[in-house]
Amino acid sequence: MVRPVYVRRTVERKRVYNGGISIGSPFLLEEDTDPKKILWKEITKGKSEFTFPSMRSEGYRLFFELGQAIQNGDAKLSRRIYQRMQQFMIKNYNEKTDREKWKSTAEQLPTDIGGYNKREKTKLITSHARGRVLEAMCGFNTYFNDSPEIEEVVAFDYSRAMLERYPRPERTRILFDVNKIPKGKRMDFFEDGHFNTIGCFWGTNYMDEMVPVFKEFWRLLSKGGNFIVFENTYSGYGDLVRRYFNPDEVAAIMTVAGFRPEVERVDSVKEEVEMGDYYLVEGKK
Ligand SMILES: C[S@@+](CC[C@H](N)C(=O)[O-])C[C@H]1O[C@@H](n2cnc3c(N)ncnc32)[C@H](O)[C@@H]1O
Repeated sequence: MVRPVYVRRTVERKRVYNGGISIGSPFLLEEDTDPKKILWKEITKGKSEFTFPSMRSEGYRLFFELGQAIQNGDAKLSRRIYQRMQQFMIKNYNEKTDREKWKSTAEQLPTDIGGYNKREKTKLITSHARGRVLEAMCGFNTYFNDSPEIEEVVAFDYSRAMLERYPRPERTRILFDVNKIPKGKRMDFFEDGHFNTIGCFWGTNYMDEMVPVFKEFWRLLSKGGNFIVFENTYSGYGDLVRRYFNPDEVAAIMTVAGFRPEVERVDSVKEEVEMGDYYLVEGKK
């Protein structure tokens, strides 16, 4: 049995700059046989770029001291400086795990909340929901308004930073990684048939494998319940997407998982400047 981790809202929406300043090795262009380059490689374990919080950071200053110590061939001192420098280093964006990248997104893009016509999208999605609702991979956003048809909305995401910023703090929010499902983990803190609606918006693009996840959603839904996927065929965070949204592919996978899907193109929420098309794929259990 997997124990759910509940997350409360603890962080106010605010813009946090989390970039940092990167500098590269001063010894890159020299010969491999150059003792300075060999020493640099040995001390830094081959790393060629370093990111510090700012130019005023102690780490940034130590980087130049390290260069000087290596220039002088002083291995002992270089090792000592590198050890001190390490505590000031922050990770470069492309060294981060996907989850860490989502955290930066949550911190840096607190206003990316649904694009054009968010209100209409939310109205449409809410009109397809009833009873107990699960909002999967919710981010810092919700597409479920309060409605007399809806009893409760529970949201989940694998990024704590996202869940802390979810706009409805009174709703239950659960930390859960859907990519653990293909490896055998279940959302077994919910019984079979617990939900009447599951919604996943701009989320399927980031699933390693959709089939096992859709099957788990099928288990979580009551008979007659619906699974709704709403997305745009063009959108996706560049280096994080596994695939771009294709409504026919999602519908085919819903069928494999046991649903009866219907695909509807939704032009009413699209602005002229937007690329791609919006689709609502609804699978009935
Ligand atoms: C593009 S955002 C969409 C968020 C929200 N549904 C929306 O439309 O604004 C994708 C979300 O999926 C979450 N996510 C990505 N991989 C995940 C995983 N393996 N398990 C759970 N959530 C994940 C991210 O943290 C992020 O909040």
